[in-house]
Amino acid sequence: FATLKQSAQSGAPLYLQLRKSIEDAVNRGLIGPGDALPSERDIASKADISRVTVRKAVQDLVKGGILVQRHGSGTFVAPRMERVEQSLSRLTSFTEDMARRGMAVRSAWLDRGLYAPSPDEMMVLGLSSNELVARVARLRIANDTPLAIERAALSASVLPDPAAIGSSLYAALETTGHRPVRAVQRISAANLGDDDARLLEVPPGIAGLHIERISYLASGKVIEFTRSIYRGDAYDFVAELRLS
Ligand code: GLP
Repeated sequence: FATLKQSAQSGAPLYLQLRKSIEDAVNRGLIGPGDALPSERDIASKADISRVTVRKAVQDLVKGGILVQRHGSGTFVAPRMERVEQSLSRLTSFTEDMARRGMAVRSAWLDRGLYAPSPDEMMVLGLSSNELVARVARLRIANDTPLAIERAALSASVLPDPAAIGSSLYAALETTGHRPVRAVQRISAANLGDDDARLLEVPPGIAGLHIERISYLASGKVIEFTRSIYRGDAYDFVAELRLS
């Protein structure tokens, strides 16, 4: 921080210069996840700048998810998210995937109910306009970290009471003999909008993955049409490729 005052002539506001130098220190590994930042007063006196400037830089980095502030104990470099490596070749549920990793799974409900289907729900699920669609929208959370927002749509004839699925949609489908056996999954890049970012507890605008899954029963009938937003900073999707 000591060189900060000398470079003040460079034009950029001091708080931006400080922000950058802290960011650089994190990126270069000089300070790592969980490390405490020196106190506001220490940084201000070392860099010979005001505490207000330090506070502004630090608050920006907290908003950006680079630092975290813990009440009473100070400011720390944010813990790095353990990335989830997810196979693309098996048709599994979120609950199964996380349980296999020994993670505690939980969901927060965003929506569950019966609705008149949208045109794309009608098309994908093969519903007519006088049938209803069951929507199940959840924030999926593992070890207290929100990882994805999943919005599933199914025919109301297979899921007449969406509120009754309990913690796993696939487990509920299994009990009625509707567990899918095949799925087509499409993954595309999407920057997170403000609402999704707030739910996923990440800064708005960071990279996300939009995942659409259409899954089928053995009979070939579509059973599930799910559109999800996964955190781009939390997932690696992995598929094994073979020369055929
Ligand atoms: C995965 C899939 C979703 C599916 C869900 C079911 O996350 N991407 O398409 O609906 O699993 O998970 P669960 O059985 O835990 O509700």
